[in-house]
Amino acid sequence: MAYLYGRLICVFLSVLGALCLYFSMDYETPFKVTPVFSKRANGAFLQLPDTACERNAPFLVLLVTSAPQQAAARSAIRSTWGRERTVRGKRVRALFLLGATPSRDLARAVAREGQQHRDTVQKDFLDTYDNLTLKTMMGMEWVHRYCPQAAFAMKTDSDMFINVDYLVELLLKRNQTSRFFTGFLKMNEFPIRKKYNKWFVSKYEYPWDKYPPFCSGTGYVFSGDVASLVCGVAASVPFIRLEDVFVGLCLAELHIRPVPLHSEQTFFPEGLAFSTCRFRKVVACHFVKPQEMQMYWRALETSLGEECPGD
Ligand SMILES: *[C@@H]1O[C@H](CO)[C@@H](O)[C@H](O)[C@H]1NC(C)=O
Ligand SMILES: *[C@@H]1O[C@H](CO)[C@@H](O)[C@H](O)[C@H]1NC(C)=O
Repeated sequence: MAYLYGRLICVFLSVLGALCLYFSMDYETPFKVTPVFSKRANGAFLQLPDTACERNAPFLVLLVTSAPQQAAARSAIRSTWGRERTVRGKRVRALFLLGATPSRDLARAVAREGQQHRDTVQKDFLDTYDNLTLKTMMGMEWVHRYCPQAAFAMKTDSDMFINVDYLVELLLKRNQTSRFFTGFLKMNEFPIRKKYNKWFVSKYEYPWDKYPPFCSGTGYVFSGDVASLVCGVAASVPFIRLEDVFVGLCLAELHIRPVPLHSEQTFFPEGLAFSTCRFRKVVACHFVKPQEMQMYWRALETSLGEECPGD
């Protein structure tokens, strides 16, 4: 009997030892704080839009990330919510953020499209999902270097519907023009450690157990000064592929806390079924196809004078 207990204790201790070794190795993975980011992202711009910000500062710049092959989405946005116009007396301008493509034909088409519309910000990094942080930081750098006069900027995607009128209305009402950051708040998020998940993050990439407060990358809005502030700290913040978390890390470094834009939900990163009255009080809605953008836009435009319940 004693012999058996001895064996059991021995096995138990071995397992414990192995576990200890495993966890200590796990926590000792080296962690590089020096980001690769600065090297790759500091390249020259391939395309710049023709916004004369010092002469005619926009109130709101919409920075729309899109992939080179998404010409249909860009076209739909240009003819709907991204149309250059004045909203409540405030100038709004939409710009597209693009990386580079290895396809020569596509690269040529993108260059032509950009020359025609003069609304493209492009740098020479490979346009992939994993390079989204570079793309976002390109947008921040553009505001910082070429358009610091913009009162506000929004970073969003090309599968989003943005109710620009309502956004401008809320920004004017709110009247917070510095150190302001808003969107769909994510105050208590944790890194996903399951491999093969789209948002998987290794302990090597991000060793901590919790993310700082950030806003869903589907659409966040900030006062113009935030772009310069973020650019200033980006090189001293650990690089992470998830662009919205990366911006959150920058905000934490700056002690800027994301705040809600309104007491009611106005950002819908999970999508929302369309109805005219509902969408009048929506700022951003995800999962909208180019044809739907046209439909939503027309419905909102043609119903402008009509009453909605609760108005
Ligand atoms: C990001 O862009 C760089 C520069 O073009 C490229 O070398 C790298 O492979 C890209 N990364 C990913 C994950 O696509
Ligand atoms: C906005 O705030 C500024 C000062 O921060 C103030 O001078 C201005 O009157 C405010 N405007 C509105 C519309 O509340």
